Amino acid sequence: MMKVKSMTIKAAMPGLSYLEKKRKEIDRLLDSYLPPAYEKPEILHRAMRYSVLAGGKRIRPIMAMTAYESFGGVEPEIINPAACALEMIHTYSLIHDDLPCMDDDDLRRGQPTLHKKYDEATAVLAGDALHDLAFELLARSGSARAVAELAQAIGTQGMIGGQKADVDAEGKDISLEEIRYIHTHKTGALIRGCLRIGAILADIDPVSLEKLSLYGEKIGLAFQIIDDILDVEGDQDKLGKEVGSDCKNKKATYPGAVGLKQASIDANRLIDEAIEISREFDLNENHFEVIARFIGRRKS
Ligand code: IPE
Ligand code: IPE
Ligand code: MG
Ligand code: MG
Ligand code: MG
Repeated sequence: MMKVKSMTIKAAMPGLSYLEKKRKEIDRLLDSYLPPAYEKPEILHRAMRYSVLAGGKRIRPIMAMTAYESFGGVEPEIINPAACALEMIHTYSLIHDDLPCMDDDDLRRGQPTLHKKYDEATAVLAGDALHDLAFELLARSGSARAVAELAQAIGTQGMIGGQKADVDAEGKDISLEEIRYIHTHKTGALIRGCLRIGAILADIDPVSLEKLSLYGEKIGLAFQIIDDILDVEGDQDKLGKEVGSDCKNKKATYPGAVGLKQASIDANRLIDEAIEISREFDLNENHFEVIARFIGRRKS
């Protein structure tokens, strides 16, 4: 039964084996870059490993690797730590996002959130430590430009700016323009940044970098619109996080503003536009298209 199911998924989504292979490679690398659980401070190291190694789609490091390899990068010792740095940033953002002072969620990646498993101080510090480790790993690339790119993507003009606006918008009736600001910043900025960092490390030309950024903006916005849709009609077991969290927190969401049907239409349009852009690159295999399709159809 399981076998038939996975064959059906593969037939419906060509390129899934590419994502699957990359995901496994990233899981192995993350394990190797995280500090060992037996080393002091043991609880923090255990906590970092608990959240990072709980699984997840690993789509951000896959984006960075895909951008790096598609634009001619060939050195694993450059891209591997950089890609894992991006997953550590993402996991830190999830740990903090789940805290009682933010979204106050109890379930993440199919297990209790970090502050539930340990305590709030451990969760804050483990998030901080993942952020710090990420910059150390990215610095191994020797590219100050890549380090600056990450800092910008996740700072007040990127992810953190979006998170602040998201929290401030709770219980308010805000415009669609403001919701797009929240989505493109809290989620889109890191996604765009992952693609740009991979490409910058491969020494991409400026025109292609602009195109890749536009592709990233489109899949980034689509990613969060779909996240909002799944929060309403997703399956908690597949998602590994609580359904209905946005409603509980009176979040301003994309489907809340335009309705579920229109939200889905908009997400699909963004995915199609992103695929069109990716086809302008002269690539043997267009893995950007695989990534965009995966985001468009994701259920977890
Ligand atoms: C969840 O990200 C948080 C958002 C930015 C919407 P993902 O859906 O990528 O979560 P994981 O990494 O697969 O757990
Ligand atoms: C989270 O958005 C974005 C970041 C963590 C930066 P959400 O709050 O919608 O993500 P989930 O639904 O908790 O994964
Ligand atoms: Mg949130
Ligand atoms: Mg949340
Ligand atoms: Mg959400």
